[in-house]
Amino acid sequence: MYYLDKLRKKSNKTKSYQTLVWLFQLTGIMLVCVLNTAQAVPSGAKYFPNVPLLNQDGKTLHFYDDVIKGKIVTINFMFTSCGDSCPLETAKLRKIQQLLGDHVGTNVHMYSISVNPDRDTPAVLKAYMKKFKVGPGWEFLTGKQEDIDLIRKKLGMYSDDDTELNDHAINFAMGNEATGQWLRRDPFAVPETLVAILLGRLQTHSLAALPSYEKTRMLGSAPTGEDLFITRCTVCHTIGGGNKIGPDLQNIVSLRDRKWLKRWLKEPDVMLKEKDPLAYGLYLKYGQVPMPNMRLAEDEIKDLIEYMKNSSKTLNTNTAALNK
Ligand code: HEC
Repeated sequence: MYYLDKLRKKSNKTKSYQTLVWLFQLTGIMLVCVLNTAQAVPSGAKYFPNVPLLNQDGKTLHFYDDVIKGKIVTINFMFTSCGDSCPLETAKLRKIQQLLGDHVGTNVHMYSISVNPDRDTPAVLKAYMKKFKVGPGWEFLTGKQEDIDLIRKKLGMYSDDDTELNDHAINFAMGNEATGQWLRRDPFAVPETLVAILLGRLQTHSLAALPSYEKTRMLGSAPTGEDLFITRCTVCHTIGGGNKIGPDLQNIVSLRDRKWLKRWLKEPDVMLKEKDPLAYGLYLKYGQVPMPNMRLAEDEIKDLIEYMKNSSKTLNTNTAALNK
């Protein structure tokens, strides 16, 4: 809970934070049932290449079997001779590693993969790690250029111009291979937010229905609403995960009058004071915990509503896919 407290303190700072992030989700089926026999077939095995890579100690790791299989991972692409954006990203990842603490190497595995493998030998990577004081649980990988290109393509992070690892390149992915949830972020994302996703949403293994990797698709640009929701709302709410301190918010955007919803997010305290019938009814139902006024700006409210709407839609689609 320590990091959550820190997160809450930070949340004022993140309020004005404008991310440039992109979000996409690759989803996969975990189980395939063949007649009466349920057989575990992780479809990620079919989607991701199992190419050999070398870590900083010269040990061979296969990308699917050893690097990602069944794990929650962060993966970024870099090269050691890179001018200014890679060191910035490495420093940011170092911050993430520190925030994750003991979770690194157990609940979350961190990898940096060189896009300049000819130059970045294991020894070069090891020296780089020393320079950046990279702790255990975070490995640096190199390999054959074509194999690394293939991994990047599969993660949707390929560009044939590598001098392009500039400030705006999206080089950072995190995912849960078992559930097939993957997200891409740019290096400017707030470390605390990324940690909240890594230790929160990505740790769930309960996403019952997931389309196969083959049907992976971009879900469009990442709503800043997600960052807001994680930092401001997840202490009390889930979307599709059941009631917490406050009600489950799946489908709430289509259930409620838009004007009511906007006003509720803007000034719940005033509405409770006025004894707005719906709000007051919820207040009585949810243990008389008043939802706090979070001083949300108009555009933040808009982003939050958009985020709640879209994640409900994704959940509904997944559920429909399962029930087919
Ligand atoms: C401290 C806990 C808490 C936080 C933080 C919180 N809520 Fe709530 N929320 C509640 C409670 C409790 C209710 C039920 C009404 C009440 O008791 O005030 C509620 C009700 C709601 C409702 C109305 C649900 C319905 O059925 O109409 C929405 C929408 C909502 N919250 C969205 C949010 C969003 C979005 C955030 C983040 C920006 C947020 N809440 C943050 C506790 C919280």
